[in-house]
Amino acid sequence: MSTHLTPSDRTFMKHFAIMIAMLAGTAVVLMIIGTFVWASLPKESNQQEAQRAGDRITPVAAVYAGDTGRAAMEAAKAAADKAAASQVAYGGTTDGKTIFDHLCTTCHETGAAGAPRITDKSAWAPRIKEGIATLVKHAIDGYTGPDGNHMPAKGGNPALTDAQVEATVKWMVSQAQ
Ligand code: HEC
Repeated sequence: MSTHLTPSDRTFMKHFAIMIAMLAGTAVVLMIIGTFVWASLPKESNQQEAQRAGDRITPVAAVYAGDTGRAAMEAAKAAADKAAASQVAYGGTTDGKTIFDHLCTTCHETGAAGAPRITDKSAWAPRIKEGIATLVKHAIDGYTGPDGNHMPAKGGNPALTDAQVEATVKWMVSQAQ
C-alpha cells in the first residue's frame, strides 16, 4: 500500500483532524454543561414520592436486630395487641363476671369515685327498683347521680358492645340482690 500522500490528501487529513478535534471538544463541553445542570437540579423534588417509596419498603427493609430491634418488635406487638383488643373488648365475651373483673371492679369493688360497691346491697336496692332497663341505659350512656358522682359511659371502655354492658349490669344486679 502506498504511503505517498498527494497535497489534496494532506489538506483532507488536516481538515478531517480539525473536524474530529472540534467534535471531541464539543462533546467535552456538553458533558461539562450536563454535569452542572444535573448538579443544580433539586435532588428530592417530590418529598411525598420519596416518603411513599420509603413506606413501601419499610416492612421489608426493617431489620430487627439486637436489643433495640427486640424493643421495637415488642412495642409493635403491644400496639397490635392493643388495637386488636380495642376492637373487641375482652375477646367479645358476654360473661358479665369476666367483664366486671376486668373493668367495672376498679370502681364498683372499692367504691372509688363514689361508685356503689357490688357488695353493698342497700346501695343497690333503690337502683334496682328503677328497673334493669334504666340501669343498663345509664351504664351504656354514662350517668351522673344526684350526688354528682359520675358513672362513665361503658365504664370508660367504648369498645364494649351494648350487649356486653347489659350482660355485665345483669350480673352485677344478680350479685347485689
Ligand atoms: C370510673 C369508675 C367507674 C367504673 C370503671 C364503672 N363505674 Fe359504674 N358507676 C360509677 C359511679 C360513680 C356510679 C354511681 C353514679 C351515681 O351517683 O348514681 C356508677 C353506677 C353504676 C350503675 C348504676 C346506675 C344507676 O342508674 O343507678 C351501674 C348499673 C353501673 N355503674 C355499671 C357499671 C358497669 C357495668 C361497669 C363496667 C363496664 C362500670 N359501672 C364501671 C363509677 C364507675
